[in-house]
Amino acid sequence: MTSPVHVPVMVAEVLGFLRPERGGRFIDATVGFGAHAEALLSASPGVELLGIDRDDQALDAAAVRLERFGARVHLFRNVYSQMTSCVREVGWDRVDGVLLDLGVSSPQLDDARRGFSLRFDGPLDMRMDRAGRITAATLLNRESEEELTRIFREYGEEPQARRLARAVVRRRRERPWERTREFAEFAAAVLGRDRRSGLPRATRVFQALRIALNNELQELREVLDPCVELIRPGGRIVAISFHSLEDRIVKHFFRNRARGCTCPEWFPECRCGKKPTLKILTRRPLRPGPAEEARNRRARPARLRAAEKIGPA
Ligand SMILES: C[S@@+](CC[C@H](N)C(=O)[O-])C[C@H]1O[C@@H](n2cnc3c(N)ncnc32)[C@H](O)[C@@H]1O
Repeated sequence: MTSPVHVPVMVAEVLGFLRPERGGRFIDATVGFGAHAEALLSASPGVELLGIDRDDQALDAAAVRLERFGARVHLFRNVYSQMTSCVREVGWDRVDGVLLDLGVSSPQLDDARRGFSLRFDGPLDMRMDRAGRITAATLLNRESEEELTRIFREYGEEPQARRLARAVVRRRRERPWERTREFAEFAAAVLGRDRRSGLPRATRVFQALRIALNNELQELREVLDPCVELIRPGGRIVAISFHSLEDRIVKHFFRNRARGCTCPEWFPECRCGKKPTLKILTRRPLRPGPAEEARNRRARPARLRAAEKIGPA
């Protein structure tokens, strides 16, 4: 069943860090169904927003939702790693803040035809950008046992990655992979349940396929430098992650940018000249409060990190 509703995560915290009530130019790099964007734009008539998403359905929905804000909104169908060219296209120079609300939205997950969820039967698709030619089924049917092992291990942190990859390759010799349910049941039978969480381990394997297919971690690594370059000093970046692989990338990036000189201690003076460019605003990632977790089950894994750009204007 499809549902057009996406409940945005940690809205109060996002607004608290980005401070849109003062007006300014913001990039919503994952505009999705436009819920965070609407909150930012509603905070002040002085807010302008540039929204990016690689999913055409999401972008169409965002365009309808944000229509009333007229010329204050600029929407781009693109990957967020191309953010700088979008900013140049609208003629902006610096921005006051960037929001990255990573992963997939509820309408994407709940639409069986998109193949993102192991809860519904549908084609093994998982493309965020439906113009892409490769689907999750293509990966399962074509990739080598080694590559599938890497995907399940690296992106799903699955200890039995090799066993699953071998079984996947053996099974596809009889019949190609096509449907989410057959793959979910197969993976669950091979892997069983996670002893700690009690969740079927197939959940993480689904996540692994999605991450690999959409090149999600590489996209995230590539967008963080441009974010900092585009933000004016005093402006802020807020990133909401939904699994530890994303959160780790954001954490290390913030730490690295918040650190000054990296010369060995025994150097008499700094030779690297590195200056901090970010001040970390969240020593630990913020999590949704109990009320939000109770209201929105999908908010539970969310981890929010924020940082402020420092340096000469
Ligand atoms: C969690 S949803 C964002 C929901 C949004 N904040 C809202 O309030 O409706 C994440 C969105 O990011 C998009 N997305 C993920 N990776 C992307 C990328 N590399 N470039 C552009 N969009 C991406 C997905 O298509 C999805 O619509």
